[in-house]
Amino acid sequence: MEEIIRCEKVKKTFTVRDFLGINKRVVLAIDNVSMTINKGVNTGIVGESGSGKTTLAKILLLLVRPDDGSVYYKGTNITKFSETELRFFRKNVRIIFQNPFKSLNPRANVERIIKEAMPEDERKTKKIADVLDAVGLPQNYKDRYPHQMSGGERQRVAIARAIAGNPECIIADEPTGNLDATTEVYILNLLDRLKKIFGLTYVFISHNLKIVEKMCEKIIVIYRGNIVEQGLISQVLKSPLHPYTCLLYNPVSIKTIETVDKTSQGCPFAYRCSFAKKICFEVKPQLKEKEKEHLVACFLYE
Ligand SMILES: Nc1ncnc2c1ncn2[C@@H]1O[C@H](COP(=O)(O)OP(=O)(O)OP(=O)(O)O)[C@@H](O)[C@H]1O
Ligand SMILES: [Mg+2]
Repeated sequence: MEEIIRCEKVKKTFTVRDFLGINKRVVLAIDNVSMTINKGVNTGIVGESGSGKTTLAKILLLLVRPDDGSVYYKGTNITKFSETELRFFRKNVRIIFQNPFKSLNPRANVERIIKEAMPEDERKTKKIADVLDAVGLPQNYKDRYPHQMSGGERQRVAIARAIAGNPECIIADEPTGNLDATTEVYILNLLDRLKKIFGLTYVFISHNLKIVEKMCEKIIVIYRGNIVEQGLISQVLKSPLHPYTCLLYNPVSIKTIETVDKTSQGCPFAYRCSFAKKICFEVKPQLKEKEKEHLVACFLYE
């Protein structure tokens, strides 16, 4: 299987200062994560708010540089590449953010937004018209500015910008998070159609397991910056293994909330887990293969 992006043992901490800028707190956003995006295998990343999904997406794109670990593009370690050296990578792997209002330049019209994402030799009117067609926007929208469009239309412009440079992979970070249900269905169907037309591979980030099931072949579940389970959708859907994955499938099944902020040196989920044993608070479980391609980091399965 052809590999597009791989990260190995990436780690990222953020230092957060308090309101007055006096006290510092270190947040471990991504902890020793390794994962691979293979061509043609749409991969969903799921987890609660704050679990590190966006940070991981930005690391995969090197929009955020990891403190430790490496990112590979087609087998080449690009972690330390300069922005100029990353130009080829940036053209081939694009991102769509949750909130297009923030990610689109408010002072650029649609034509300019799409043009700037194209290779210079392709910046012709015909090509812009093709891209608008592909995302279902009328041709006269090329003169509009982001504030003159609805949320769904803005997201279509963000998608148009992503496909304009003929990428092979698009990382979509909650692309329908701000949209109503019918617009969400429209955007998901559009992404699905574009995948078939342009042979795209998606990394799909979402809270919503139903969306990931619809869009992806593979799923990665993260909790507090750790991968706790990964596998083919068919495997994880049929038999979710990690108690956290079970919680995502059935949010009332496991004790929650009151212990949510506690962490142990062992399993990051131990304080919320109904099945936690002594070892879970002391030793961090490693991701291990339960069956081919289905991995879980949990002492219940050791
Ligand atoms: N630039 C930053 N500075 C400080 N802390 C950050 C920064 N970016 C992320 N974090 C912290 O890292 C952790 C992971 O954040 P991240 O945005 O990756 O989560 P997420 O899973 O994408 O959440 P959501 O579903 O709400 O988008 C959080 O604790 C967050 O507060
Ligand atoms: Mg996020």
